[in-house]
Amino acid sequence: MIALGVLLSGNGSNFQAIIDAIAAGELDARVAVVVSNVASARGLDRARAAGIPAIVVDHRGFASRADFDAHVAKLLVARGAEYVVLAGFMRVVTGALLGAFPMRVINIHPSLLPAFPGIDAQSQAFAYGARIAGCTVHFVDEGTDTGPVIAQCAVGVLASDDDASLRARILHEEHKLLTRALQWLSEGRVTVEPRDPPRRARVTVAGAQTFSFAATPQNT
Ligand code: GAR
Repeated sequence: MIALGVLLSGNGSNFQAIIDAIAAGELDARVAVVVSNVASARGLDRARAAGIPAIVVDHRGFASRADFDAHVAKLLVARGAEYVVLAGFMRVVTGALLGAFPMRVINIHPSLLPAFPGIDAQSQAFAYGARIAGCTVHFVDEGTDTGPVIAQCAVGVLASDDDASLRARILHEEHKLLTRALQWLSEGRVTVEPRDPPRRARVTVAGAQTFSFAATPQNT
C-alpha cells in the first residue's frame, strides 16, 4: 500500500476516482492528506466526506512559488505521503516540492502530451481541430507538462462534439488512467531510467499496457 498526498485546485473528480478505486479494492493506496490552494475547491468537500484530512494553503500568502512549494512539501512529508498526485492542481511546481519527492510527483493532464500543454488543453485540442485527443499520466519535472510519460489514453473527436462533450469524455478516461497508473506504482511495477540529456528519462511498467483507446461512439 502506498500513501498519497493529493494536491488540487477545483472540482476534484480525479481525486474522487482515487477514493472510489480504493473503496472498490482496485487501488491499494491510502490518501494521507489533501491540499488545495483554493479554499472553495469542491475537492475539499470530497475529502471531508471521505474522512480524509483536507488542508487549504493559499498560495497568495507566500512570497514566491518556491516558498509555497516548500511549505506544502513539508506538510506532505509530515503527513507521511510517499507519492504526490496533482489532481487538477493548477499551479506549476518547483524544485522545492520535486526535490522532496524525486520522481514521486504524478500529474494527470487532459491531452496527449507533448501536444497541448498548459491550461485548457481540451479546448486547445478542440479549437485546433485535432481528430484524436486524450489524456496523459506523467511524472512531474520543472517544466509545464514536460515530465516522463507513464501512460496515455487516446480519445477520438466526434463530428458532433463540442468543447464540453469532448472534455467530459476525456475526463471519464482520466479517472481510469490515473487510478490504473497509481496501482502500477503501488505494485512497484514502474521504473524510471534516467538518461543523459537531450535524451529523456525512460519509464517502463512491467507487464502492463501503457496506452489505451477510449471506446468511440459512432462518429456522427
Ligand atoms: C482535469 O481535466 C485535469 O486533467 C486538469 O484539470 C482537470 C481537473 O478536474 N488538469 C490540468 O489541466 C493540469 N494541467 P478534476 O478537478 O475534476 O479532477
